[in-house]
Amino acid sequence: MSAAETKAYKTSLINNRRYLGNKYKLLTFITGVVNSECDDIETVADIFAGTGAVSSAFTDKIIITNDLMYSNYICHYAWFGAEVYDPQVIIDYVVRYNAKTKCGENYMTRNFADTYFSKSDCAKIGYIREDIERNYKKGNLNKRERAILITSLLYAMDKIAVTCGHYDAYRKGAEFEASLELYVPLAEINNNTDNECFNEDANNLVKRIEADLVYIDPPYNSRQYCDAYHLLENVARWEKPEVFGVAKKMDRSSMKSKYCTTSATKAFETLINDIKAKYILLSYNNMAEKGNSRSNAKISDEDIMRILSKKGTVKVFEESYKAFTTGKSDIEENAERLFLCTCFNEE
Ligand SMILES: C[S@@+](CC[C@H](N)C(=O)[O-])C[C@H]1O[C@@H](n2cnc3c(N)ncnc32)[C@H](O)[C@@H]1O
Repeated sequence: MSAAETKAYKTSLINNRRYLGNKYKLLTFITGVVNSECDDIETVADIFAGTGAVSSAFTDKIIITNDLMYSNYICHYAWFGAEVYDPQVIIDYVVRYNAKTKCGENYMTRNFADTYFSKSDCAKIGYIREDIERNYKKGNLNKRERAILITSLLYAMDKIAVTCGHYDAYRKGAEFEASLELYVPLAEINNNTDNECFNEDANNLVKRIEADLVYIDPPYNSRQYCDAYHLLENVARWEKPEVFGVAKKMDRSSMKSKYCTTSATKAFETLINDIKAKYILLSYNNMAEKGNSRSNAKISDEDIMRILSKKGTVKVFEESYKAFTTGKSDIEENAERLFLCTCFNEE
């Protein structure tokens, strides 16, 4: 590759995005517990995978990813998919998209102009997303290349949206300072050919899969991810639905998570019962009854211990960090906990 070519585009890594509850900063803590406490791990299932950050620490294993949101599934397939892709194809599309200046009216301009993005960036987002789909349907892109380009677009949107990282609201009257620029995701070309990516309710998936280590990182409060990231989900799916209200959200009734409701404990109990693994590693933070009502944890420590102890022997590990709260709260210091359950498995 010539020096001129290397300057024509920028590159991105899995953690170059904002995402509530992402565990990128806790990877040393998580892998430290796994390396010191778990034996013979060949397969890791990250069944509430979000950004996929935790899976990225286990690329020497077979990885199974899953998330209820299609926009996360697409990113998982981009980073961990078993299908081989041509990096030059990605570079060529990214360079072409970044050079494109005039894009006409489309679904994005009609619905989102001058909200989260300027009208011209909306035109470009709509154009790029449509073009990816057109080329995929024509056979010019394989499924992995399509996923990598959509990932590049979602990461680029995240960089410039006038939000504080999620799409519950946009900052009215804010200046649109930066304009859309796609980066080339540095995804491994040859991932493990046994890797698998799923897009479904974790409670259904665990009935069909088996893994040595199942990592569980469910939402812990009433904040639904499909509400916070509706716009990324909308662009990833590209079904062009009607949108409503000031925040311009689409209908998300089929995307709601039980883990954000009062049924969380029941769902968690069923999930644990159905898991087939040597080890279960759970991340769940300790906000219960300390924060405001929206940030209160949905599953109590007592219930976590009761449910996990029926499945195996449980050890708890803690690492403190500063809590993130949007409203008023007394919390300053918090602890991220890992519950490791070594399952009682009949031979
Ligand atoms: C705390 S985040 C996970 C963060 C992730 N570990 C990371 O490092 O980015 C919880 C994730 O669970 C997903 N989710 C919520 N309910 C789910 C369910 N029933 N099945 C699968 N995924 C679910 C959400 O979409 C969200 O991405």
